[in-house]
Amino acid sequence: MTAPRFTVACDGPAAAGKGTICRAVAAHFGFAHLDTGLLYRAVGAKTLSGMTPIEAAETLTAQDLTADGLRSAAVAEAASRAASLPQVRAALLAFQHEFAAQPGGAILDGRDIGTVICPGADVKLFITASAKVRAERRLQELLAEGADTDFATVLADVTARDKRDSERAVAPMRAAADAVLIDTSCLGIDQAVQAAIDAIAGKLA
Ligand code: DC
Repeated sequence: MTAPRFTVACDGPAAAGKGTICRAVAAHFGFAHLDTGLLYRAVGAKTLSGMTPIEAAETLTAQDLTADGLRSAAVAEAASRAASLPQVRAALLAFQHEFAAQPGGAILDGRDIGTVICPGADVKLFITASAKVRAERRLQELLAEGADTDFATVLADVTARDKRDSERAVAPMRAAADAVLIDTSCLGIDQAVQAAIDAIAGKLA
């Protein structure tokens, strides 16, 4: 089922399951999907190579989004730091707006989609889970990729990133007042995806 123009905003903290849920939702409804965290990660990666965050954001190319190592903890940290700068966020605005407005429907996931990027989205989701559950999930991902880390390190990283992302002055991570909250702490992937599909199907009907 596709809609001519239909935008879903999906926000929430790191490792809550946004990516998995959004990919499944996009496949189910035929929406295009944008992981906006990847934009900030690509900017963060360029800052680790010595570029200033603003220059990195203003010169971002599609190729930067396919760079190696964008999922690493070091890049996540650099992304979160760069994301606190208003000029960096401003440089990434037009691309996100164009993506959201494309025919056929779009789902964007990030931290400020329902509050800042697409405040008029047809459906807003806020996907969350306890910090311990999120850290355990992220630990398993990192270990599977061969990273040398442990639970305490990952929990500290996740908590520090949550704090910076939710306390920054510009576009802090926050659930929109009209967002549907999905807490995945005690949900399996199928249940979480179904909850998101149900929220969207209700609006598409
Ligand atoms: O979703 P992620 O973990 O890939 O995001 C990496 C960082 O990018 C995150 O810590 C905060 C920032 N970010 C943001 O500020 N706004 C978004 N819409 C998406 C990500």
